[in-house]
Amino acid sequence: MFKVPPIAADRLPGLLAAAPKAELHIHIEGSLEPDMIFALAQRNGVALPYASVHDLRRAYAFTSLQSFLDVYYAGASVLLHEQDFYDLAQAYLARAAMDNVARAEIFFDPQTHTARGVDLHTVVGGLHRACTDARQNLGVSASLILCFLRHLSEEDAFATLEQAMPLLDRIVGVGLDSSELGHPPEKFARVFARCRQLGLHVVAHAGEEGPPAYIWSALDVLKAERIDHGVQAVRDAALMQRLAQERIPLTVCPLSNQKLCVFPGLAAHNLPQLLEAGLAATVNSDDPAYFGGYINDNFTQTFAALPMLTAQHAWQLAFNSFEASFAPEADKRRWQQQLQACFERHADPA
Ligand code: ADE
Ligand code: ZN
Repeated sequence: MFKVPPIAADRLPGLLAAAPKAELHIHIEGSLEPDMIFALAQRNGVALPYASVHDLRRAYAFTSLQSFLDVYYAGASVLLHEQDFYDLAQAYLARAAMDNVARAEIFFDPQTHTARGVDLHTVVGGLHRACTDARQNLGVSASLILCFLRHLSEEDAFATLEQAMPLLDRIVGVGLDSSELGHPPEKFARVFARCRQLGLHVVAHAGEEGPPAYIWSALDVLKAERIDHGVQAVRDAALMQRLAQERIPLTVCPLSNQKLCVFPGLAAHNLPQLLEAGLAATVNSDDPAYFGGYINDNFTQTFAALPMLTAQHAWQLAFNSFEASFAPEADKRRWQQQLQACFERHADPA
């Protein structure tokens, strides 16, 4: 492990912002900013249940995951054409580049769009073109992760996988998201087994609001390589031990957890506990347009609220993000070297 040199506390926010990092938990539909929702509604002639941006923003007072998802799916209804999906992903990737994101693994929810009659080729076409351009124009490496909606049936997930078959070279893996409680991972055992056979990486949301049992089954039944959120793991000592021993990455999203009332506030977040227990935690934005900040906001606000978090933790979180990514090994090692160089540049003068 790299021993981080002494760095004065007042330099930490600058370092958190400057550090190269990977974002592994970002729903592209959750980066749809209110201004873009209204611009696309107008461009596509879609009627919205909100009179203005101000009216829409007032709906962003969430009390739970479900209260958020209702607004999130309404917002996504303005996305119709390939160019809409391109514009959305391009805007996110440009914003991520400003936060020194070197690698982004982007979730998308195909069923949200195909249920409205949008072809999967349209969705993946626009998102993938933005990922390709980002490498060239922004220096950001980006890949797509197709998420199945867990409130729908496994049969529906299989139908989505069938539609995705000609597009599999454009996605790096599959995930599981949407309403967690009442929809345990094992509901999707067969479709995830098929995805693994197809050579896709596998991740799953588990332990956001749901119990530790959902994290166990995401690991044992779905064979998830990363757990998205996973913060409820602290309720189960044996699970914590397993996550630490196997270095299973958790993609933690502090501002999301705060907004969706998973914790009463950032000061009560268990990120320090996860790190102290030796878990491979990472910091991510989840749905930045809805939760009040992009990845660097997540880092800086969380570190400000939790003064026990140090520069060593900051380095560990960014290092973990590259370790946990599905990028080529050579890229991962290069970014980790850049990370170390960044920390050395920020060291206190000898
Ligand atoms: N879809 C978008 N954001 C989500 C979250 N935080 N949990 C589950 N599904 C989601
Ligand atoms: Zn999520």
